[in-house]
Amino acid sequence: MIKAIIGAQWGDEGKGKIIDYLASKADLVVRFQGGNNAGHTVVHEGKTHKFHLLPSGVVQKKRSLVGAGVVLDPRVLTKEISDFGGLNEKDLGIDFRTPIIMPWHGLTDIAREGAKKEGEKIGTTGRGIGPAYEEKASREGIRFGDLVDETLLKEKIAAVYSERKRMLESVYGAECPPQSQITAEYVKLGKELKKYITDVSFEVNQAHQGKNILLEGAQGTLLDLSFGTYPFVTSSSPIAGGACVGIGLSPTKISEIEGVVKTYTTRVGSGPFPTELVGIDEDLGASIREKGHEFGTTTGRKRRIGWIDLPLLRYAHQLNGFKGIHYTKLDVLGGVAKIKVAVAHKIEGKMFERPSLEMQQLDEWEPVYETVNGFENLTQDEWREVVRESKEKGLKALPENAFEYIKLLERELGIQTKTVSVGAERGETIFVKN
Ligand code: IMP
Ligand code: MG
Repeated sequence: MIKAIIGAQWGDEGKGKIIDYLASKADLVVRFQGGNNAGHTVVHEGKTHKFHLLPSGVVQKKRSLVGAGVVLDPRVLTKEISDFGGLNEKDLGIDFRTPIIMPWHGLTDIAREGAKKEGEKIGTTGRGIGPAYEEKASREGIRFGDLVDETLLKEKIAAVYSERKRMLESVYGAECPPQSQITAEYVKLGKELKKYITDVSFEVNQAHQGKNILLEGAQGTLLDLSFGTYPFVTSSSPIAGGACVGIGLSPTKISEIEGVVKTYTTRVGSGPFPTELVGIDEDLGASIREKGHEFGTTTGRKRRIGWIDLPLLRYAHQLNGFKGIHYTKLDVLGGVAKIKVAVAHKIEGKMFERPSLEMQQLDEWEPVYETVNGFENLTQDEWREVVRESKEKGLKALPENAFEYIKLLERELGIQTKTVSVGAERGETIFVKN
């Protein structure tokens, strides 16, 4: 059984927590796109794990795989493995086809962003993600199989180095470290990581019968390179279809696709955000940010805060075909007197509930809100009590208005609710029996 867990908004929906929650029943957890621009937080037994590259399944000691659609920074991976206390080759596998992020990628990312005018900046995480995918598409990329083979690695670096250096220096006035230094460092990294080499496509396709496999999306649907809010997007495909091309998996083998939806919306970096809390609502946004710890896991930047946007979620559903939704961070909305939900948008007086060509004019969208009554601000102990009660009562254990809010979203989207999260810990999760 293969289940994909996909972010339905602009990332940071809480996929790491959901993967960790579901991983107890999984045999394999696989990442298929993105790189260390991602930041997945897993809290278990009071300990907070933050992962940028490692699949969140490692906390539950499940075999974790990094597919060919990921871009891999070996500096970050070796550090993450050692911070975690080490992983052996049974715990982790990396596809031999996975492109490697090289030092010139991060330098280019930062230099290029720095050269852009205000208003044009994408707000990248500066981790070299875009340039690494460009190099892959230009068919000059260094892959994991090259990294772990000293001879091949030297050849591959030599083939591109002088062009990359010239580019950095002449176009951006940025310095590139000497070739010998990069080569020495990456040969060493390759030796450390060599034991993890595998064919993820083969493993997953073989395991799909009889084993439980979780596919862990990174970023979110609205950051998709083709279907997101271009050009304010990432360079990979975080939608469900991206899992097939990012692993080398037949689309017919994915049996379940589930979305993760935060009960409010956040976005980090630039780009349109129609339901953002700005102007007179800015203070409310700031208090949600504080309470929800809405600061980037990777960059520490303030996340922008806004209401749920149903037309955008319907669009995400169209792209992904969700069979269920995991709602997260409901506890954060406790104490907000009135909760708004964008049920439609207007452009030039014309209303729509599900965007099509309107995706071209996101900047001009005017939200049409439905306002619902908020619910009380419970303590974490009280939320845990709600979770205990939910074992019998299901979602009815929620404060009445919180229940009504989730039911409104469920009704509007027409998608089953799978879980509702009311805290960061694995156990602070209401499981919905359907
Ligand atoms: P890049 O992926 O670093 O090129 O960044 C492109 C855009 O995607 C920026 O707006 C980033 O803030 C955003 N982004 C990239 N990764 C994440 C993520 O994991 N969560 C939220 N936003 C992200
Ligand atoms: Mg994140």
